Amino acid sequence: MASSLRIRSAPRWTAVLLLWAALCCLFVPVVMVKQHDFKKCDQSGFCKRNRHLADTAAASSSWTAPYALDAASITFKDGQLSGTVLKTPKEGGEKVRLPLTVTFLESGVARVTLDEEKRQKGEIELRHGSQARKERYNEAGKWALVGGLKVAEGAALSEKAEKGYTKVFYGEAGKHQAVIRHEPFGIEFQRDGETQVKFNDRGLINVEHWRQKVEKPAEEKKEGEEEKKEEEKKEEEEEEKGEDESTWWEETFGGNTDSKPRGPESVSLDISFPGYEHVFGIPEHATRLSLKTTRGGDGNYDEPYRLYNADVFEYEMDSPMTLYGAIPFMQAHRKGSTVGVFWLNGAETWVDVTKAKTSANPLSLGTKGHTDTQTHWISESGLLDVFIFLGPTPADLTRQYGELTGYTAMPQSFAIAYHQCRWNYVTDEDVKDVDRKFDKFKIPYDVIWLDIEYTHEKKYFTWDPLTFVNPTKMHNHLDKRNRKLVAIIDPHIKNVGDYPVIDEIKKKELAVKNKEGGLFNGHCWPGDSMWVDCFNPETIKFWKALFKYDSFKGTAPNTFIWNDMNEPSVFNGPEITMPKDNLHHGNWEHRDVHNINGMTFHNATYQALLERKKGEIRRPFVLTRAFYSGSQRSSAMWTGDNLAEWSHLEASLPMVLNQGISGFPFAGADVGGFFGNPSSELLTRWYQAGIYYPFFRGHAHIDTRRREPYLAGSPYTEIITQALRLRYQLLPAWYTAFHEAHTTGAPIIRPNFWVHPDDEAGFAIDDQLYVGSTGLLAKPVTKEGADSVSVYLADGQPYYDYFDYTTYQGKGHHTVPAPLEKIPLLMQGGHIIPRRDRPRRSSGLMKFDPFTLVVALNKEGSANGTLYLDDGETFDYQQGAFIHRRFAFDGKRGILTSTNLAEGSRTAKLDAFLKSMARVRVEKIIVVGAPKSWKGKKEVVVMEEGAKESARRKKVAIEFFEGKGKQADWAVVRDPKVGIGRGWKVDFLG
Ligand code: GLC
Repeated sequence: MASSLRIRSAPRWTAVLLLWAALCCLFVPVVMVKQHDFKKCDQSGFCKRNRHLADTAAASSSWTAPYALDAASITFKDGQLSGTVLKTPKEGGEKVRLPLTVTFLESGVARVTLDEEKRQKGEIELRHGSQARKERYNEAGKWALVGGLKVAEGAALSEKAEKGYTKVFYGEAGKHQAVIRHEPFGIEFQRDGETQVKFNDRGLINVEHWRQKVEKPAEEKKEGEEEKKEEEKKEEEEEEKGEDESTWWEETFGGNTDSKPRGPESVSLDISFPGYEHVFGIPEHATRLSLKTTRGGDGNYDEPYRLYNADVFEYEMDSPMTLYGAIPFMQAHRKGSTVGVFWLNGAETWVDVTKAKTSANPLSLGTKGHTDTQTHWISESGLLDVFIFLGPTPADLTRQYGELTGYTAMPQSFAIAYHQCRWNYVTDEDVKDVDRKFDKFKIPYDVIWLDIEYTHEKKYFTWDPLTFVNPTKMHNHLDKRNRKLVAIIDPHIKNVGDYPVIDEIKKKELAVKNKEGGLFNGHCWPGDSMWVDCFNPETIKFWKALFKYDSFKGTAPNTFIWNDMNEPSVFNGPEITMPKDNLHHGNWEHRDVHNINGMTFHNATYQALLERKKGEIRRPFVLTRAFYSGSQRSSAMWTGDNLAEWSHLEASLPMVLNQGISGFPFAGADVGGFFGNPSSELLTRWYQAGIYYPFFRGHAHIDTRRREPYLAGSPYTEIITQALRLRYQLLPAWYTAFHEAHTTGAPIIRPNFWVHPDDEAGFAIDDQLYVGSTGLLAKPVTKEGADSVSVYLADGQPYYDYFDYTTYQGKGHHTVPAPLEKIPLLMQGGHIIPRRDRPRRSSGLMKFDPFTLVVALNKEGSANGTLYLDDGETFDYQQGAFIHRRFAFDGKRGILTSTNLAEGSRTAKLDAFLKSMARVRVEKIIVVGAPKSWKGKKEVVVMEEGAKESARRKKVAIEFFEGKGKQADWAVVRDPKVGIGRGWKVDFLG
């Protein structure tokens, strides 16, 4: 968002402050201003208190956490252990009863929850007459979890537990064990007898229990100057130490005061990963994939990673600062093992990461040095609710996390092609004009986007009558080339008269409420606004009705939706978001649900798109900026308002990779950079990198110059066009990768560690990526003026240049040429890559195009790969209407086969789909790394199932090409004419 525009819509005092800040910008780096908008840990009372606790514990040799599991309370039934943890409060008095559950799931995952009995029973009082709920928020699972909760029948208490411990065997063949220490309370999670994850090893567990505020007697306030000063000094000292009670009862930041009706209520826990040097995950941050430590020291951060969805425009690079979305899922990785935790909490959360190195012991043979990663999780409110994953592979983790929170939705095929956006295409004629220019320059694209200016005075569900005169005609125009339109709809609804949407919201109270229970007003793009509360089922019902074609007039089946500003962004709110004491449906405080809020909004939009017209069910497409665990089920995301700078291009790769391993792989960054005008070189390199974002969209701020690819000029336009064509050529491979993500949770683009989990040297590599399981390895150029890149190869397989088959082989770094017109892309030997080579204007026009298979042989002379294909539009694939093939080349026998991977019986839908694809064939097979013995070969024998007798064994021409220098030999079989949906064999030796 533009700061200049924000000034226009903010109230007076904010405007003055911002003006002052803007003036300061003239003299100090721009980043300073952004930092001041957002809290640091010591400006957030609960973070400061818990960090202080960590410091106190570290400084004391005798520290123990005052938490004990009452042995007499333990019961074990149906895969779940229950008991009560007793906390001894520092201030004395009654012990605080914290109900504990440890649940063992069939998947081998364990779940630990800790609640507060008094609050469960509602035996607390709220201050300021608040109507908020008394319980700790216990509904995060309702929004985030969709499966994987079946308890393990085989989980069992160990009979041999020592005194003071309870042990439970669980997981496949009882390989996992939870060792629960009673006092101080702690848990070790073991796999095959080895501890992988430790809870409360450092004694930092903390559940701030409810207590009554003790009002200070009034006379204290009337003390003499001396005493008053002393008092203030004491307070300051306490504040320094983090014990300061002033943040218990209310907190003020940037002129906003949080009334905190329940007082302090944070939950925190230290979680250690012994022997693990790398931790990944917990997006969204503009940081490296392998997370840096956060307690200072050379090159490290001194702030914890923060998860508090916020509109952090023009965000800083290399920072643990919060961004737009939050996924509290972390994985720890070492050679031979990946484990992880999912901290299911929707409130503001901070995570400290530290590493403890133990050096080798020279006196004791065999004691190797190792590194432990220690983490400290701190949330402002809610339950302590953690899932523990014991792997042992990265794929196990992403699958298990996906079982719980859902796999990424299978997108329509257009959604993975190229999207052209800017703020704004200003008229319907402008849209058509851009569309025509893409065609004129023969540049493929699928979707054009409309930002907020298409609306009538920022009222969503309306069109500006002067600029978008005939939206239906515009949609029809786009549909001719199978193109789509995405229109923005934000959660803030303009509060003006004569706008039926807001009238109904007010009448039915469908918006978020303020702490007094009235409808909350704030400022956003439209000025005075209210925010739809999608925690409320009535709001969802209302929202769905708004998208019907006869309600949102001018939209069509080729309209899709962009949900922005759903952190939510509130220009005059604390940290540009909503006050924490606002109330949502069910009287949950905004504090409890902040990070989940954006997801409820895009979920509602997804539901709405499903029901636009009776009988017309198409896969929706929704883009969201804010997200939480589970967002992948209904949306794609992008990384928000980046800058047209090389550093932002570079940072986008680890950010998008991190989304992939964190269960939300349909991700991308604004190509070209949102703010500022990229140089032609930067724009070109950004397109060359952007073709590897699963979500691929060019976007630009309203103040920037137009930069559609055809405007770049020669040679840039041609080079960008080549990049776009490469994306389109490989769409079958991308679609297959999406299907894999949809069914197994595997990332769509994959970092080195995920593909080569035992290659220690590559664990931290985050500037190159693999596309799905295709073996395609890309290393985008992210440095100005570069004409080569250094690509890291993790194994001894041959890697072939995608374009000219130059071969790179040998573990380690290799220099690959990368002049401007070249995209460094290698094919790992051992894979078969499906593609479609005919250049078209949109992906929809490629639907019945023939395929090319590229067979890149490994050292052993073999390769295999898969292809997934469906109608790219409907849900018929759920009724079996898809093609799923496995291609395998057996080097010894010289035979390439296509076999069916689709299980299940024939359905009418499948038959209809196969019929529609009956004429789609393989038009070319390229074998890269072809054996020399094929030289001189003229023919191969092709056999196809179901073919006519005469065509069952046919001879097809093959041509062998001898590579020069480092180039591999290759062979091309032209037009074997085999059906893409059929079984067939190509015998290269026959
Ligand atoms: C926000 C979005 C940006 C959009 C703008 C106007 O800043 O992040 O993509 O263009 O709002 O809607």
